[in-house]
Amino acid sequence: MNVVLIGSGGREHAIAGKLFQSEKVDNIYIIPGNAGTAEIGINISLDTDDHNNIIEFCKNHEVNFVIIGPEAPLASGLSDNLRKTGIKVFGPSQKAAQIESDKSFAKDLMNEYNIPTAEYKTFSSKDYDNTLIYLKSISYPVVIKASGLAAGKGVSICNDFNEAKIAVDNCFVNSKYGQSGNTIVIEEFLEGDEFSIFAITDGKDYVLLPAAQDHKRIGEGDTGENTGGMGAYAPVPFVTHELLTEVENQIIKSTLKALTDKGSPYSGCLYAGLILTDEGPKVIEFNCRFGDPETQVVLPLIDGDFFNLLYSTAEGKVDIDAVKYNGGSALGVVLVSGGYPGKYKKGFEINGLDKIKHPSIQIIHAGTKEENGKILTNGGRVLNIIGLNKENNITACNKTAYEAIHKVNYQDIHFRKDIGYRALNS
Ligand code: AMP
Ligand code: GLY
Repeated sequence: MNVVLIGSGGREHAIAGKLFQSEKVDNIYIIPGNAGTAEIGINISLDTDDHNNIIEFCKNHEVNFVIIGPEAPLASGLSDNLRKTGIKVFGPSQKAAQIESDKSFAKDLMNEYNIPTAEYKTFSSKDYDNTLIYLKSISYPVVIKASGLAAGKGVSICNDFNEAKIAVDNCFVNSKYGQSGNTIVIEEFLEGDEFSIFAITDGKDYVLLPAAQDHKRIGEGDTGENTGGMGAYAPVPFVTHELLTEVENQIIKSTLKALTDKGSPYSGCLYAGLILTDEGPKVIEFNCRFGDPETQVVLPLIDGDFFNLLYSTAEGKVDIDAVKYNGGSALGVVLVSGGYPGKYKKGFEINGLDKIKHPSIQIIHAGTKEENGKILTNGGRVLNIIGLNKENNITACNKTAYEAIHKVNYQDIHFRKDIGYRALNS
């Protein structure tokens, strides 16, 4: 079968690699892809906002199955438009994708169905004065979130009124997140360890993949600005079988039921960003797709036919036996362009990748492109270096990844030195 994969990040390189292992997959077209996906399939330079062009491409290349990686095309209804033409799609409908694209929708849904999450209030830019009055009346810290999509960067943790006012002004006055910041969610600050769960679901049945932990902040010790993700590892030692069962019963099943009740049954990967508080696991956010950079460390831990898992989901009946956890572990460090998540330069040559050839290391490309035989930086998050271990040994994965990183270089390279620190043996 020919498959189209939409996206250009590390997540898509990892997904393409896993699909390629399936005997059922003939050609993989990645729209638009990166220098890494070009080694696995065929990169196609098409605008993913132009849904008709993608449909046309599928018709001309005998593509009957499309996997949508990022949230933006899901939020703009690409899956619905493809399905109307009879093409099978892995990824939720536009309506179901609201679980990520509209945080106030997600919070209201959780509230209605008693799904554990932080207490919250929603404000729109028309309520500017009331927002400030409210912020003067509460205790701190609080978390202020742009309700719409903001590439993981629309969240501010505010320790006092002044910080909160800056966050509100960024949304309502300075339009830092465009329309996405016209509505904000102000929520209770939760304390605890975070973890991410992927449920591959047809809306009713689901398969949970191994739990991962992402490092969203730019600085060591989880400090500084939020980013799209600076590294991740899986599995997460504190996520026990009992905790997972709690997550399934209190969060995953009720969320799927809630979305079905609302007339938008969910099909695809439901990403639950969770925090383990003293009162049990609570939802920080839902995403309507695989997480990045978690996917890069989760997929190496599953054996079986990943294509079958995704295709059976797209057909409406997820094959719950398609894949199994293989007992291993993985840790990935994201190499970024200096300046990210703010302004950064790109177009620098990446050297040293050819010196890393080891079965315990995977090089996953994100913001890279190939030009005249050279690999160049082409984004904020540039590469993921993944250390693998056949056993559940995050410390060994960390060592393997960091040893490899020292062989890679490009101008303005930056990465966190402490990925996985919460799970390392001292
Ligand atoms: P989000 O994009 O909603 O996942 O938020 C990004 C990061 O902000 C999360 O990974 C958390 O570290 C932090 N965060 C978001 N909401 C809360 C909250 N209610 N309490 C504490 N931290 C939060
Ligand atoms: N790793 C966080 C995300 O994918 O949104």
